[in-house]
Amino acid sequence: MSVLIKNGRIVTAADDYQADIFINNSTIDLIGINLSVDADHVIDASRMLVIPGGLDPHTHLELPFGGTETSDTFETGTRAAAFGGTTCIIDFVVQAKGTSTIEALDTWHAKAAGKTAIDYGFHMIITDMPEERVPEMRKLADEGVTSYKLFMSYPGALLSDDGTIFRAMRKAGEDGTIVCMHAENGIVIDELIKIALSEGHIEPKYHALTRPTRLEAEGVHRALAIAEVARAPIYIVHLSSYDALQELRYAQARGVMAHGETCPQYLLLDVNAYDEPGFDGAKYVLTPPLRAKWNQAELWRGLRGNALNAISTDHCPFCLKEQKEIGRNDFSKIPNGGPGIENRMSLIYHYGVAEGHIDINRFVELTSTAPAKIFGLFPKKGTIAVGSDADIVIFDPNHEETISYRNSKTHHMNIDYSAYEGFKVKGFTKTVLSRGRIIVDNSEYLGRAGDGEFIKRGPYGGMYTPSRSSNIPDIAPSVNSHLSP
Ligand code: URP
Ligand code: ZN
Ligand code: ZN
Repeated sequence: MSVLIKNGRIVTAADDYQADIFINNSTIDLIGINLSVDADHVIDASRMLVIPGGLDPHTHLELPFGGTETSDTFETGTRAAAFGGTTCIIDFVVQAKGTSTIEALDTWHAKAAGKTAIDYGFHMIITDMPEERVPEMRKLADEGVTSYKLFMSYPGALLSDDGTIFRAMRKAGEDGTIVCMHAENGIVIDELIKIALSEGHIEPKYHALTRPTRLEAEGVHRALAIAEVARAPIYIVHLSSYDALQELRYAQARGVMAHGETCPQYLLLDVNAYDEPGFDGAKYVLTPPLRAKWNQAELWRGLRGNALNAISTDHCPFCLKEQKEIGRNDFSKIPNGGPGIENRMSLIYHYGVAEGHIDINRFVELTSTAPAKIFGLFPKKGTIAVGSDADIVIFDPNHEETISYRNSKTHHMNIDYSAYEGFKVKGFTKTVLSRGRIIVDNSEYLGRAGDGEFIKRGPYGGMYTPSRSSNIPDIAPSVNSHLSP
């Protein structure tokens, strides 16, 4: 099947021009002005933006977590992503402690295969990594899983000690892969939670009050220091605060191959959300928590200046009625996570581009190109270029919607609330092509479960050339080389 997209304004991370795109089967064949080629299907994209499909590098579908499982399946979550203009996700496999990561990968392949609307990759959540299991990391890379997530929070569940973190990072540095870090001091947070509960504080807002920004900053600082000594690239996930951002900037300035993402919830929602009436604050129990509003301007500044390199959603949906309810009498039992896979592109376009925080090229870069580069998917994904996958979004910059879980145009996620209820957006996905097939058109789903494919990712493709810091030896592998004066 061939498709000709005519008269659109093509915007990539680098370019902005008027041209036609000819797609033959799954990839882009030709880009030019007034192309005269025969195509099975012609799309008139006049007055539309034509952008690379969104790439969301942080989602949790069918994730067992907090005594329950995220409410979106690979089928429902990826379909909602497609409606919102995202054509590729990287989701998380979880290693069960003490068991093989390769087995965990097989389990996740079985969950996702044949179900997804769009292409997907996997990161591996490592929960333990004794020396004898370290070679598995190379096997994962050979299977196209070239990034891992480790946690400094959730003691007794997902937390890794610093030794495990160092071992994993050192191996990642050797293999050309990358560690993603959930950076918060979970041990101290657990103490704060115990104090809060012992004083009778059970409401959702204590989720935020027991996770201060300083403990996020401490986690970021420690993770970056370990990565620096391990000589490995690192990607800080869901960075939420100015304190943490400053730590990222310091490390980047001294040459650490450090990347960071933030998410729409930290840019657009703030700590006052926990004061919604009754138990509604539970909708925002996600980790790290929502912060004081002034942090938002700092995060936008970080995105503008490239201290922060990507915007993901950390889509981790739990229904308010049946799942968040688990923690009605104890905030620490509320399953952590919130929805957003469907709303990212419109939210960032409206509140980022239209409100003047970032320009339109940066919008494409943050939502598609940069994560594609960091996570080994570029130039297959993340751009509009000859030879790239025809993952293309035709985006109407003038289409207005009000995001609501009751609005059938903005809510296809399997969850009983929207974190962005009532947010107005101007800028909305009109048509979505996934490897050349039209899967969404004017809010109608034209695809099928199973259209999406697992994508084996290549090595880390970071954008920093590390200028070595002065006191770190050039080569990490030997023990002696870590003992710098
Ligand atoms: O609250 C969150 N973010 N839940 C998902 C798990 C994680 O830490 O990313
Ligand atoms: Zn996390
Ligand atoms: Zn997450």
